[in-house]
Amino acid sequence: MGSRAAANLPEHIAIVMDGNGRWAKARALPRRLGHRQGAENMRNIIEACLDLGIRYLTLYAFSTENWKRPAAEVDYLMGLPGQFYERERHLLHKHQVRVVIIGDLETVPAATREVIMQMESETTDYRALTVFLAFNYGARAELAMAAERLAKKWQAGEIKKITEADVANALYTGGYPDPDLVIRCGNEMRLSNFLLWQSAYAELYFSQKLWPDFSKRDLVQAVEDFARRGRRFGGIDNISNEPRREER
Ligand code: IPE
Ligand code: IPE
Ligand code: MG
Repeated sequence: MGSRAAANLPEHIAIVMDGNGRWAKARALPRRLGHRQGAENMRNIIEACLDLGIRYLTLYAFSTENWKRPAAEVDYLMGLPGQFYERERHLLHKHQVRVVIIGDLETVPAATREVIMQMESETTDYRALTVFLAFNYGARAELAMAAERLAKKWQAGEIKKITEADVANALYTGGYPDPDLVIRCGNEMRLSNFLLWQSAYAELYFSQKLWPDFSKRDLVQAVEDFARRGRRFGGIDNISNEPRREER
């Protein structure tokens, strides 16, 4: 990609990894093989982010609504963090990738929780790229949790009013930058309870590609598209954030 586009990189990319089931169905395979292929694709996208110099990547792996799926599928999905860790542990250490979980770990099976906590603690000092794995994550549950945290602080007399910064800090993502670019694969145009607060000013990008097919090249395309957009945050255009024009 050209240096001009590189100058306008997103700091934080968040991805709804959707379409695993349809990927499998199109090949007459069980859904779980779509999930396996999807989990393997995480490596390609992590590598692409390292190549591009992206600082934060959030991957939506399991939503608070995904418990509605058949028990066998849920069981398989609960095993994926462990599979990922086993397969990619070397990559995480080699490239200094930190993994941080956002979501409610209390209600996931103990084995899944343990492997996730081990992955977090083993990579806690790394800063080349931070991967937020959204697991048992739901934005509404996150906001309710934040409200409860703030209510307790209020009750304890620690705060007397609640600011936007207080809410942001009470979320799982407290202290980290909001996503600049939210990508949804799988040809669906909705957020499905993903980062509702944090995405207030994110650029949205919808890809028809199913997640297991979403390649490094597709990520670069999304980043190039992002680089051409004009973000105003409610203000008006100025020289520095004018939409970029294609070279003639
Ligand atoms: C995304 O793929 C993975 C999870 C939601 C866990 P899906 O399983 O939703 O795939 P489709 O949407 O059925 O194709
Ligand atoms: C969103 O995909 C959740 C994840 C990718 C983890 P879903 O497949 O669960 O979303 P809906 O049901 O189509 O909205
Ligand atoms: Mg889906």
